[in-house]
Amino acid sequence: MGAVLHQGLYRVPLRMGLLSLCVGTALSLYRVPLRMFAGKLKSSEQLDLGPLKPNASGLSLASEPAGLGSFVNMINNLHGDSGRGYYMEMVIGTPGQTMNILVDTGSSNFAVAATPNRYVTTFFDPAKSSTYESGDQTVAVRYTQGKWQGELGTDVITLPQGPNDTIRINIVAILTSDGFFLPGINWQGILGLAYPLLARPDASVEPFFNSVVQQTGIPDVFSLQMCGAGVPARASGDTTAGSLIMGGVEPTLYQGSVWYTPVLHEWYYQVEVLRLDLDDQKLNLDCREYNTDKAIVDSGTTLLRLPTVVFDAVVETITQTALVHDFSSGFFSGTKLACWLKGESPWRLFPRLSLYFRATNSSQSFRLTILPQLYIQPVMDMDGMLDCFRFGISSSTSGLVIGATVMEGFYVIFDRMHVRVGFAVSSCAEVEGVTVAEISGPFAAEGTASSCVGRALLQESLMWVLAYTLMAVCTLVLLILLVLLLVPCRRRHRDGEITDESSLVRNRIK
Ligand SMILES: *[C@@H]1O[C@H](CO)[C@@H](O)[C@H](O)[C@H]1NC(C)=O
Ligand SMILES: *[C@@H]1O[C@H](CO)[C@@H](O)[C@H](O)[C@H]1NC(C)=O
Repeated sequence: MGAVLHQGLYRVPLRMGLLSLCVGTALSLYRVPLRMFAGKLKSSEQLDLGPLKPNASGLSLASEPAGLGSFVNMINNLHGDSGRGYYMEMVIGTPGQTMNILVDTGSSNFAVAATPNRYVTTFFDPAKSSTYESGDQTVAVRYTQGKWQGELGTDVITLPQGPNDTIRINIVAILTSDGFFLPGINWQGILGLAYPLLARPDASVEPFFNSVVQQTGIPDVFSLQMCGAGVPARASGDTTAGSLIMGGVEPTLYQGSVWYTPVLHEWYYQVEVLRLDLDDQKLNLDCREYNTDKAIVDSGTTLLRLPTVVFDAVVETITQTALVHDFSSGFFSGTKLACWLKGESPWRLFPRLSLYFRATNSSQSFRLTILPQLYIQPVMDMDGMLDCFRFGISSSTSGLVIGATVMEGFYVIFDRMHVRVGFAVSSCAEVEGVTVAEISGPFAAEGTASSCVGRALLQESLMWVLAYTLMAVCTLVLLILLVLLLVPCRRRHRDGEITDESSLVRNRIK
């Protein structure tokens, strides 16, 4: 008996080890990287810029989907800038606690600071809300920059400049964070507007906008206008800077026609980029390069991020063709600013950048063009003599990201109902009287009739297959281990002996 007991004790930890190894490996394949803006620009300068108001005429147009009336009360409900993010006021709990919440189409959790922090003095106190319900579940999210951890619960919220309703939503009360709340920001939480697949800890945590649509009955569409084009990043100041329209499209926020591109896969807002031009020069790259490992539209990312191969080609083309000489490479890598004498605008030295997207008619494409005013970004007034700029494009190892650099030129419609993202020239895409964004189409999707995302999607589905296979293997191993736990007892009665060498586990695992 003693020997049997000993053998049993010895083997259990081994089995547990194998199991946790299996489960761990499978789970790690499910991890989806989240991405936050990396901007943290500061300036001591205090500019007094009037609010960038959209043209107020034509508000009576009521031809919107479901005819839910006007969106007038949502116009100008965002504040902030590309460097520190765009945020909206929300009232959380009962009685209401007012917070500023960052609008992020690149994640899917709603989370708000619940303890004070070096850079957060206002915070949500669940204990003071009679409607807060704790979920006894811990959630942790790690972004490219920063991370937080908190407790998942639910509470009611209202949006002073949103749908006229009280909505119960999932809330993560952030208890600890690192590098997430940054100096100069004026927000205390994050509103993830992407799909449930990105929600943590899992896709069963209904994201904010799903709850809004569910409970208010508004159409499953929201649209974003971000008005920071040409506005230097500031350390303080609270200029009205954009609109998040929930439930439809507000016609006064754009000019010209809207072009739609399909959402390829509902997790991020993943779209298909077909081509990139600098002025009239087409980059000579396989179109799949633009979509490695994905191309997404993300309001929570400051810059236009390009896969390394694409980024290098863009920088090379700019340095070859642009009228900029002796340019420090530090400018393109984002470590240095470039300064010119005041009034000597550098924008004429740089090319226009165009991105082609697949249209909803898959044999067609359309083109978004941004002028250098959008990607050569004023930063601060150095000493009164110089105007300094940063490069609004960076290289990425996690895919192409249409961040604020591009979004500030367009009114962007997240038409979840039709699984597509729409772009139109924004009514506030103006810098010093010049319209800095253009949209045109249709173009033939020539040479790119087949998919430009083949590799990425293949890679991804391969990961899922791999994950499922691992899970299956682990389940099998678990079953075998369970059987083995029972079998020896019976066999021992017959021949009184069993050795590790005869174990199925050894042979199966190899
Ligand atoms: C919001 O709803 C409440 C109650 O349904 C109503 O009394 C109020 O007038 C509404 N406000 C607006 C701006 O529609
Ligand atoms: C899609 O575009 C092609 C090429 O421009 C055109 O011939 C075709 O009629 C379009 N299909 C639809 C459904 O509009």
